[in-house]
Amino acid sequence: MVSIDLTGRQAVVTGAARGLGKAVALKYAQAGAHVWLGDLREEELKETAEEIRSLGVKCGYSICDVSDYDQFEAMLEAAGDVDILAHVAGIMISSPMLEIKQEEIDRIIRINVNGTDNACRAGLRKMIPRKKGTILITSSVAGRHGHPGHAHYHLTKAADISIMQSAALTGAPHGVTVNAICPGIIRTAIWEHILDHTRKEGETREECWERSIREMIPLGRPQSAEDIADAVLFLTSPLAANITGQALNVCGGMEMN
Ligand SMILES: NC(=O)c1ccc[n+]([C@@H]2O[C@H](COP(=O)([O-])OP(=O)(O)OC[C@H]3O[C@@H](n4cnc5c(N)ncnc54)[C@H](O)[C@@H]3O)[C@@H](O)[C@H]2O)c1
Repeated sequence: MVSIDLTGRQAVVTGAARGLGKAVALKYAQAGAHVWLGDLREEELKETAEEIRSLGVKCGYSICDVSDYDQFEAMLEAAGDVDILAHVAGIMISSPMLEIKQEEIDRIIRINVNGTDNACRAGLRKMIPRKKGTILITSSVAGRHGHPGHAHYHLTKAADISIMQSAALTGAPHGVTVNAICPGIIRTAIWEHILDHTRKEGETREECWERSIREMIPLGRPQSAEDIADAVLFLTSPLAANITGQALNVCGGMEMN
């Protein structure tokens, strides 16, 4: 029987207070890893940490703004020896390309691009001296093409893939792997935000959601947080030891490049 056993490993997960990050953190705990959580939402972080400890592994957390390099590095220091870093935190700003405000552009680049760059640089600095470790960053199928209604979100997710590839080449001689996950459509807070902005006139939010799935996903269903967490677990497990510099779409066939 093949299974993924991470007993005794130390994983760090950002964006772990809710949504995909929380699902990834729980998945690591189910695989036996100790987990350190990072996010800005303290109440939800506490709840996630308690849920994880109830699975029998150790779990601590840092209130960390991932767009601040020093805070990112301090979170990794607090976690101790880090075997796995899964950087999931990110935001979505949905706005037509010619209507988005400059401060919104600055904010989404700071959190999504600088955040991923911080994850790559702080993660590599932590792992290279130990000659082992794996980093996973969260892009999106949005990183594969442009979009007039969410241009700057797509920009940040394309940039994340580029940083990931440079980080993979930097880490490779030292035995550190770096990959990206590109989720499709999962009904987290991010999608509630998109529905508010993409609903056609006279369409309810639910009708808009069902139309999006019907029009966009060949396999005919949205992804669950569990779908994403399973793929993240695989990409950061010993089963993926010879995979680096790759961006994996988990999207029911919605994107094939
Ligand atoms: N939900 C989807 O359909 C989807 C699709 C593709 C990619 N993604 C990506 O997945 C990731 C997680 O999204 P989600 O759907 O779980 O969204 P979410 O809003 O439910 O969770 C995001 C988490 O990131 C945290 N966060 C935001 N800014 C932060 C900061 N500066 N520092 C620390 N934490 C911060 C939030 O507090 C929140 O807990 C994002 O990077 C998103 O772009 C999501």
